Amino acid sequence: VNVQNSGIAVVETLDGQKQAIPPVWLMRQAGRYLPEYRAIRERTGSFLDLCSTPELAAELTLQPVRRFGLDAAIVFSDIMMVPMALGQRVTFEADEGPRVDPLIDATSIAALRADIDEAVFAPVYDTIRLVKAALPAGVALIGFCGAPWTLATYMVAGKRTSDHVPVRCFAYAEPSAFTRVIGILNTVSVEYLCGQLAAGADAVQIFDSWAGVLPPDQFAQWCIQPVATIAAQVRSRLPQAKIIAFPRGIGTLLRRYVEWIEPDGIGLDWMIDKNFARDCVPAAMAIQGNLDPVALLAGGAALDRAVDEVLEAFADRPFIFNLGHGVLPQTPIAHVERMLRRVRDR
Ligand code: CP3
Repeated sequence: VNVQNSGIAVVETLDGQKQAIPPVWLMRQAGRYLPEYRAIRERTGSFLDLCSTPELAAELTLQPVRRFGLDAAIVFSDIMMVPMALGQRVTFEADEGPRVDPLIDATSIAALRADIDEAVFAPVYDTIRLVKAALPAGVALIGFCGAPWTLATYMVAGKRTSDHVPVRCFAYAEPSAFTRVIGILNTVSVEYLCGQLAAGADAVQIFDSWAGVLPPDQFAQWCIQPVATIAAQVRSRLPQAKIIAFPRGIGTLLRRYVEWIEPDGIGLDWMIDKNFARDCVPAAMAIQGNLDPVALLAGGAALDRAVDEVLEAFADRPFIFNLGHGVLPQTPIAHVERMLRRVRDR
């Protein structure tokens, strides 16, 4: 594939080519803030059933692209597919998030499957094929996975924790067992990302939503090293693979992160100092982000100012406009429209 002439703005940006108008997509662009999402969600089964039904997942993937004319679709799925493929039983509690049987000791780790349950990944690959066939030319399709550390926060505690004490304590107390967990997640993540790229994803994003809670040495060990390994192994199989890393909340550890992993794109959260980020991310590496999702929720002149600050900070480099984390469910659609006009009609 000649990436230079792909005509897909997000892919060209990840290839280091700055676009006259930055391409835009939004983390969690499919979801409860859209009435068309709520309509499907109400008349179908659980959230996980939606993820495992390719026709519905494809429709949900396409909804925000259709409504807003975004430059990328992100496959409708969840990071918890990987623990499911390892045999962990996953359920979702309304407004709370995933629940699994916690990994608490060597016995529960040994109970994880040695092989991958391909039946969990197959519907995601089918969704990608359906979306790929339906997407307008020039719109990128992004696949994704959770980074091993973020997955482990859920897999060890069995649920979302605000302080991440269970997983952090496990990593201190049982480093060799925890190394085994991270190693298993590395292997499965490589298979899963390569599978998504083979099915037609133009790029993949690795979400490390809870990267920002570790001291520097452990951050290197449990966040940087695994994602670097995954990126290198995906690239060794698929040299053209475009990889975006999104390590939320890492602050000044950003420099070490991008130098070590060398992703094609780095997703920035809204908390980071934009000048600092510009200084430590290599000039050819795409920056993606980083509008505060709460500015989008607030709307009005404050939103305009926040959008302008993002655009101005990253105007001189390959840049993909996005939020610094996902769209909040209460976000008014008119605010999304206002933001998109501001990005595109300057
Ligand atoms: O539009 C998209 O971005 C694609 C779909 C997508 C979902 N989850 C759908 C979803 C993506 C990329 C994710 C990633 C994900 N899932 C992450 C990493 C990004 C992040 O937000 O930090 C994490 C940590 C998860 C785990 C997860 N899934 C949680 C904690 C929750 C509960 C919080 C919430 O918003 O309800 C989910 C549920 C979830 N994932 C929903 C959707 C559309 C809501 C399901 C519903 O009730 O309708």
